[in-house]
Amino acid sequence: MTRVLSVASECFPLVKTGGLADVVGALPAALATHDVDMHTLVPGYPAVMHAIGHDAPIRATLTDIFGGTARIRSGQVDGHPLLVLEAPHLYDRPGNPYHNTNGSDWGDNASRFAALSWVAALIGTHGLDGWSPQVLHLHDWQTGFAPVYLRQMGGASRVGTLFTIHNIAFQGVVGGQELFWLRLRGEDFTMDGFEYYGHISSLKAGLVFSDRISTVSPTYAQELMRPEFGRGMQGVLHQRRDVFTGILNGIDTDAWQPPYTDPADKASHKAALRKEVGLPEADGPLCVVISRFSEQKGMDLLLQALPTLLRHGGQIAILGNGDRALEAAFRRAARHSSVSVHIGYDEPRARRYLAGADVILVPSRFEPCGLTQLYGLRFGTLPLVALTGGLADTIVHANAAGLRAGISTGFQFNPIDSEALCGMLSHMCDQFSRPAIWRRMQLNAMSQSVSWQASSAEYAAIYSEIAAAK
Ligand code: ADP
Ligand code: GLC
Repeated sequence: MTRVLSVASECFPLVKTGGLADVVGALPAALATHDVDMHTLVPGYPAVMHAIGHDAPIRATLTDIFGGTARIRSGQVDGHPLLVLEAPHLYDRPGNPYHNTNGSDWGDNASRFAALSWVAALIGTHGLDGWSPQVLHLHDWQTGFAPVYLRQMGGASRVGTLFTIHNIAFQGVVGGQELFWLRLRGEDFTMDGFEYYGHISSLKAGLVFSDRISTVSPTYAQELMRPEFGRGMQGVLHQRRDVFTGILNGIDTDAWQPPYTDPADKASHKAALRKEVGLPEADGPLCVVISRFSEQKGMDLLLQALPTLLRHGGQIAILGNGDRALEAAFRRAARHSSVSVHIGYDEPRARRYLAGADVILVPSRFEPCGLTQLYGLRFGTLPLVALTGGLADTIVHANAAGLRAGISTGFQFNPIDSEALCGMLSHMCDQFSRPAIWRRMQLNAMSQSVSWQASSAEYAAIYSEIAAAK
């Protein structure tokens, strides 16, 4: 049995802004079958406090946690142990985990998540009520200082650390003057430590001071060691390549269960979806997008490629939100009778889109793993994706060889620009007009293994190696 404390800023179903939450929420159950006893530590945002109840058992009271008193309360997430850091001065605010209701980052994000990291290191060093983790599994920049604090507290000789990069684009960088407020030591504020061009980088702290590093797909792991993708961290990652690995995300296959077993039965869901989003009957493929609108997700490329899809008889229903300019541009695009746009975040709607559509589009400029293409596979809703990161690792492209061998599961375009996207949309529409090929691809897609089975074994192996090395 390996005891692991998983530490993150999000955890489904308590609080979610993206795939990080899904992964953190899925790990405890996935790892339980591998003899891993996982507790999850998250900040006590209002939604989390509401979920566990304001009278949830107090496990520890901590004075002076970055400007106030905090408590560790215990709860459960889907039957697995949850630890909640209740620190009203840091987390009791409206908005989402990172920003206020106007979309501006909280000015004290560095301390908000330093506090989470500090408490993780405290639990690592001293245990909690007799439970003491052997490994801290740290997710993204919000937890980057934990291995540094663990060393400061003297826990690093007994407790190991795995730092997982879900997205290198977010790095938690603050001015060097925050050093002492963040309870960091001057001796680590160097190029070989967490210093980054005169600033403090929480992400770099995680990358430099953790025992092991992982990211969420093998291709993204390779990409991250190159300047085009590494966002300044390629050198550190290259130096640490011996302890750096890519482990693909899985999905919760019970939670993402299509309402049919034969893709032919999609027809009624397609009719229902068209009705719901106001698209007319048509012969071409019905495509969907379920995404944050950001530079990462390539939504601007999709805007440019829309006319090509429509010219080939395709239709599209888009569900997403984020960048205001993109939201406005898509609203305008929705004036076309074959385009539907729903601005918002809506999980049940996402499921209906997956069930009813023929194709899910994921034109990301970079994608550490991506979950929606995995949902697409599971639902027989063929993914058309950019050839990058986890999108490269999870889809078998419908090129001539793949089609001839009958193994293709989707479409990949490369280079990642609107011209290549247009080319692949045309190719996809062509294949859609060949029902036998399309059905073969749907069956292939639906039979792919997208669960946590394989990847959870990889995490379990890393945890045991880390624990054994201490
Ligand atoms: P990222 O974490 O970069 O946003 P992922 O593909 O890993 O990308 O995860 C995104 C998650 O958020 C998926 O579970 C997806 O279904 C969900 N999601 C994104 N946008 C929406 C939306 N507008 N409505 C419902 N679910 C959404
Ligand atoms: C990040 C990435 C996404 C990945 C998710 C979960 O949000 O952008 O590709 O699937 O983390 O690891």
